Amino acid sequence: MKVLLLGSGGREHALAWKIAQSAKVEKLFIAPGNAGTQNVGENVDIKADDFEALKNFVVENGVDMVIVGPEDPLVKGVYDDFKNDERTKNVPVIGPSKSGAVLEGSKDFAKQFMKRHNIPTAKYETFDGTTVEEGLKFLETLKAPYVLKADGLCAGKGVLILPTLEEAKKEFKEMLGGMFGNASARVVIEEFLSGIECSVFALTDGKNYKILPEAKDYKRIGEHDTGLNTGGMGSVSPVSFATKEWMQKVEDRIIRPTVEGLAEENIEYKGFIFFGLINVEGEPMVIEYNCRMGDPETETVMLRLKSDIVDLFEGVAEGNLDKRDIEFDERAAVCVMLVSGGYPQTYAKGYEITGLDKVEDSVVFHAGTKMQNGKVVTNGGRVIAVSSYGKDKSEALQNSFTQAQKIEFTDKYFRRDIGLDL
Ligand code: AMP
Ligand code: GLY
Repeated sequence: MKVLLLGSGGREHALAWKIAQSAKVEKLFIAPGNAGTQNVGENVDIKADDFEALKNFVVENGVDMVIVGPEDPLVKGVYDDFKNDERTKNVPVIGPSKSGAVLEGSKDFAKQFMKRHNIPTAKYETFDGTTVEEGLKFLETLKAPYVLKADGLCAGKGVLILPTLEEAKKEFKEMLGGMFGNASARVVIEEFLSGIECSVFALTDGKNYKILPEAKDYKRIGEHDTGLNTGGMGSVSPVSFATKEWMQKVEDRIIRPTVEGLAEENIEYKGFIFFGLINVEGEPMVIEYNCRMGDPETETVMLRLKSDIVDLFEGVAEGNLDKRDIEFDERAAVCVMLVSGGYPQTYAKGYEITGLDKVEDSVVFHAGTKMQNGKVVTNGGRVIAVSSYGKDKSEALQNSFTQAQKIEFTDKYFRRDIGLDL
């Protein structure tokens, strides 16, 4: 069959790599893709949120299935848009409907949903421009540090953790005053949870679900989790504290109630659910939901998924995911992200990347790259994800680390401690 994947980052290259291995796939298109995805499929120059152009492409090229990588098209309603068009209503879109994507698109909705379904999460309240005083009073009832979250999508920047009450009050007022535009017109204030984070992923057809390998991502720019937050500097899978017993708690208290809750509320959801969890003294709690896979978690999760991912997607489309098998690779996987010097603040683009052909035994996923005059050049903050297997995580890290040194571009930077904290 013919498959169209939407997106252009490292997550999409990893998904494309996995989809291309399926015997069921005769042709893979990626819109818009990057310099890496063109090695496993055909890039199509259409933006992931240009629904009219995407639908025309699907019709003209006889595409049988659409898979959505990033949240943006989902939150904008790509699923519903395809479904409500006579020409594309029978083409399955793997990803939730607009009402399902609200789990990621609105923090307040996600918190209310968890409350309704008794899913463990931090205590919270939501405020807007008419309840500023109430918000300030609520802050006084909490202990430091203080967690403030813009309700809407802010490209991963909408969460502030403040050490003092004074700063929390100041930032709270600024958020409501438009710090993140309309996204912070409502602000969630929540209790701070202390523990190690873990990303758990499920694929659901709306009734059944399959749990994918879990992973941990490394968000800070500096080693030992110091410095500014980034989109993710690397990931590791499996996560040592995610034992069988812990994952059973996650399934019983979080995954099953979420899938059942969505069904009970008639929210159409046929796609990935990303559970951003934190391990609080052995008990998993939800920090956030996302309506898609994680980046750079996908760059390790895909290495550890042995089964044919397109078979799983067919199960999602047909509503018989329970009839499909999911198998994991027992080895560990580590992804090390090579980033542009200066990231996550200002950085240059357009530097030539060399040495990609020297990499052995690791999988190179392109995150921010493009082709320019026949050369691969840097085109973003996160540039290349080097993913490797190992018998354990230190061997996997060593492999990624060795291969990462062969890839060169001006001002390249990467963390050398991915997975070592576990
Ligand atoms: P989010 O965008 O909701 O994932 O939040 C970004 C990051 O802020 C998370 O990955 C956590 O590291 C941190 N965070 C969010 N909420 C809390 C919380 N209630 N307690 C502690 N850390 C949090
Ligand atoms: N790695 C976290 C995310 O994709 O949101």
